Amino acid sequence: MHTLAMMGNSFGKATVCFEPQGKKIEVEHGLTLLDAARIAGVGIRSDCGGRGICGKCLVVVKDQKGLSPPSDNEVRLLSSARLKAGYRLACQSVVEGDVTVFIPPESRLEARRILAEGLSRWFELDPAVRSVRVVLAKPSLLDTTPDFERLFNALKERGLGEIKIEHELMQRLPTILREANWNVEVILWMDEEVIAVERGSGERGVYGAAVDIGTSKLVLHLVDLRSGETLSVKMAENPQLVYGEDIISRINYAAFEEGGLARLQRLVIEAINSLIEDACREAGIERDRIYEVTVVGNTAMHHIFLGYSPKQLAVAPYVAVVRRSVSVKARQLGIKVYELANVFVLPNIAGFVGADAVADVLATGIYESDNMSILIDVGTNSEVFVGNREDIVSCSTPAGPAFEGMHLEHGMKAVTGAIEKIKIDPEDFEVEYETIDGAKPVGICGSGIVDAVAELFRCGLIDERGHFKKSLNTKRLRRENDAVKFVMAWRDETATGRDITVSERDIQEVLLAKAAIRAGIAVLMKERRVKEEDIAHLYIAGSFGKYLNPESALFIGLIPDIPLDKISFVGNTAIAGAKMCLLSRNMRKIAGELSNRIRYIELTAHPDFQKEFMNALFLPHRNLSTYPTVMKHISKNKGT
Ligand code: FES
Repeated sequence: MHTLAMMGNSFGKATVCFEPQGKKIEVEHGLTLLDAARIAGVGIRSDCGGRGICGKCLVVVKDQKGLSPPSDNEVRLLSSARLKAGYRLACQSVVEGDVTVFIPPESRLEARRILAEGLSRWFELDPAVRSVRVVLAKPSLLDTTPDFERLFNALKERGLGEIKIEHELMQRLPTILREANWNVEVILWMDEEVIAVERGSGERGVYGAAVDIGTSKLVLHLVDLRSGETLSVKMAENPQLVYGEDIISRINYAAFEEGGLARLQRLVIEAINSLIEDACREAGIERDRIYEVTVVGNTAMHHIFLGYSPKQLAVAPYVAVVRRSVSVKARQLGIKVYELANVFVLPNIAGFVGADAVADVLATGIYESDNMSILIDVGTNSEVFVGNREDIVSCSTPAGPAFEGMHLEHGMKAVTGAIEKIKIDPEDFEVEYETIDGAKPVGICGSGIVDAVAELFRCGLIDERGHFKKSLNTKRLRRENDAVKFVMAWRDETATGRDITVSERDIQEVLLAKAAIRAGIAVLMKERRVKEEDIAHLYIAGSFGKYLNPESALFIGLIPDIPLDKISFVGNTAIAGAKMCLLSRNMRKIAGELSNRIRYIELTAHPDFQKEFMNALFLPHRNLSTYPTVMKHISKNKGT
C-alpha cells in the first residue's frame, strides 16, 4: 500500500497549505511537498531538480504529523538543530496527511535576483519549459487505459489542462514508458505540450539558450532553466560579414543572389550550433538537454535566421513578414539541440527595429518607469527609444560601423592592443592613451575614436566641422598623400611598427555616424515633446558603450547635453532581454505587448530628419545653445 501511495495513486487526499502565500491545495497522498508546490504554482528553489542534493528547497513545517519522517538526505544536509526546529527539504518530504508549510525567504523563487547583463531586474523565474516527474501505475487487465491517456491523467492530477504531444513522440511513447518502468520525467512547454518523456531521474537537468544575432556579432548564453543561472557565455563574429558589413548588403545578397538567403541562413545557424557545442562542452552538459532557445536580432537578422526573405525590408514602405513572436521547432531550423525543442524568436517592432530592440526595452525596464528615458543601442545599425510607461517612440539609424572601429584607417575592434582611451594635453598636444589589456597599440577602437575626436575638438586642434586647423604648430599634425592626419601613437610605441594616426577622413566617418544617431534622438524627442531637462535617464546599450567615456560622447554631440550622472552604460541588453524571455513567461508576454505598443518613426520619411542630421554634423551641434556644458568648457579654455 505504501508503494502505491508513493506512486501518487488515490489512497487518500490531503490539504497542503503554503505560507506566507496562503495558498491551499488538495493533493494525493504520496506526492512530495515540492510536487504540491509546483501544482499550487508556489515557487520553491530546487536547484538539483528535486534529487535531495542541493538543500535549496528548504521549508519549515511545525506540525509534521502529515509528513513522512526525514529521509537520509535530510539528515545528511540539515543539522539536528534545524531538524528539531521543523526544517525539511520539500523534495524529500512526502505528504501523508494535512499539513501547513512555511517557505522561508531564501527558498522563495519569486524574489530571486536575476542579473540581466549589467542591470539587475527582478522577475519571477517561470520558464516556458519545465519538467514534471510522474510515476504511473502499470497497466493490467483491470486497467487498460492507453499509454497517452495514462500519462495525460497523471498530469491532470498535477493540475494541468489539455496537453498536446508531437506525432513522433507519440510513436516512441510506449517504448519510453516501459523502458523507464513507468517512472518518467515529462518535459512540458508552456504547460500545453509534452515535448519529451524520459527516464524519471531528473538528474540530467533542463537547460535553455538565449541568442543575440547582431549584424557583426553573435552572443549565446547557456542557462539552467531550474535555477536561472547562466552556465556559459560564448561569442563569435557573425559569419555573414563576408557578404557585407551592413544590413543593406546582406539584404541585397539574400534577395538578388541565387541561393543567397539559404546561404546566409545556413551560415548563421552553423555558427549558432558551434556556439551551442562550445557552451555545452564548457558547462559539461549534453546538447539534447537544451529544451528551448530564445533568439533576438534586428529585423533583417531575424528574417534571415528564419529563412524569410528580407527583400521588402529595404524598399519603401519597408514591410516585415511578421511582427509577432515566432515559435518553431529546433529541427525545422537545423538548430542542434533537443530536436523537439522550441525556438522562440521575440517579436519585432517595425522597420529595422527588431526583436533585439524589444529585448533592450524589456531589460532596461523603461516601459514601466514614470520617468522619461532615452535608450540607444549602438551597433552597425543603431536603435533609439524615447519614452516612459505612457508612450515610447523608436527609430533605427544606419550609423555605420565607425563606432565598431571599422572604416577608419587605423580602426579596429575592441580587442587586445586597441587604443580605447585618449587624452591630449591642450598646451603641448602630447597624447596619453590606454590600450585594451595594456598591450602595445595596434589600432584604435570605437571608444578610442570618440575620445580622439572629442579631445582634438576640446584642444582646438579641429574646428566645429571636424577639419584640422592647419596653422597649428605641432609635429603630430602632418600631411600625408594629400590627407591631414594627427599622430596618436608613434611607430616606436606601436606593435605594428607604423604610426597610428587619425585623419580628417576618419573624423568625417565619426561625424556621419554620430549625426545619424543624434538626429534620431532629436526627432524622437520632438515626437515625445521632451526637452533635455525632462530626461531622467540615458541608457547606452551595446558593447561599444562599455568603454565609452560619457564626457567624450557629450563633447562630440552624440548625446544631448544632460548631466553625466544621468547616463548609464548597460551592456548587451539584447541578450539580457532574450534571457529574460527564456526564464519568464511573463516577460515573454510583456515583450509581445511592447512590440504592439512602441511607436515606430521611419526617419527617412520624417520631415525633420534631414535638417536634424545636417545640424548634428557639427561639433558638438550647429545650434551651440543646446550644448551649454560643452560651450562653457570651450570658452573657459579659450580664456585661459
Ligand atoms: S531540490 Fe535540491 S534538495 Fe530538494
